[in-house]
Amino acid sequence: MEKQVKRIGILTSGGDAPGMNAVIRSVVRSATTRGIECVGIRRGYSGLISGDVIRLDSDSVSRIINRGGTMLYTARCEEFMTEMGQSKAAATCKQFGLDGIVAVGGDGTFRGLLALSKHGVSVVGIPATIDNDISCTDYCLGYDTAANTAVEAIDRLRDTMQSHERCSVVEVMGHRAGHLALYVGLATSATAVLIPEKEFDFEKDVVENIIKARLGGRTHFMIIVAEGAGSAVEIGDKIREELALDTRVTILGHIQRGGSPSARDRVTAASMGYEAVKVLAEGKTNRVIRSVSGKFDNIDIAEALNMKKGLDQEQYEVLEGITGIYH
Ligand code: F6P
Repeated sequence: MEKQVKRIGILTSGGDAPGMNAVIRSVVRSATTRGIECVGIRRGYSGLISGDVIRLDSDSVSRIINRGGTMLYTARCEEFMTEMGQSKAAATCKQFGLDGIVAVGGDGTFRGLLALSKHGVSVVGIPATIDNDISCTDYCLGYDTAANTAVEAIDRLRDTMQSHERCSVVEVMGHRAGHLALYVGLATSATAVLIPEKEFDFEKDVVENIIKARLGGRTHFMIIVAEGAGSAVEIGDKIREELALDTRVTILGHIQRGGSPSARDRVTAASMGYEAVKVLAEGKTNRVIRSVSGKFDNIDIAEALNMKKGLDQEQYEVLEGITGIYH
């Protein structure tokens, strides 16, 4: 017997990611089709505490599928970490008659959902972060777009590095994980990729690789550094010192978080939003929607938060195999 779900709320929390608008659209449209009302909570959990709630219908989410950012704004909320903040948020859910909350974000967002569920609110999480570092899922919304943005920027850098016979050191986001840097490094045929999951030796992994590439006839070099692996500025300084190479450093930064979502992110958003509404409509709670081997399902939040995500070993092996310069 399905629980009667009449109204749900959606919020986006933590760092934004391309595809957040597309997933808001999917949740609202999937709910509407089932006769469930939907409201948007603005500025993540702080909006849930203050009651910053707007009505969403099919029309309010028109023409946002292609837009980066999030129409609901996002925030990281200190107050929500406290018992008092969580009680206020639960009171808002009661006040607006919300039978469930869908929160889009990363691990911090899911920890927030877990806390909220302890106050009797039904909750579902949708993974969205350009870092792709959420353990329970193969794929997080925004990753594909961010990777393509970085690849496009690096292709442009390569043009000018080639003309001037320079070395480019590019810092890619990813927080403490190297998924984005490894993927982007593979896509751009980097001379070296430095990621936090693999301890690196500057002489062996950077200097030797550049020398080998130079001996192989290359006149320009591309070093990709995951932000969690170290500072691109420091690596650039060391390359200049040791190899007397004309070196330029680029920190791609928040450029990677913006922009129109790729087809993959829009389609993933559609599926994840649909699944989230289905889970709530079926009377389930404390679930995270995930993608495993190309299929969507859901998993208990506490279980999801206890999982560990390692580097994609296959991708790393391909990097080693193609370049032949890694040990
Ligand atoms: O988690 C997404 C992310 O963009 C990370 O890659 C990065 O370390 C962090 O957020 C940056 O956060 P902020 O937007 O607060 O500078």
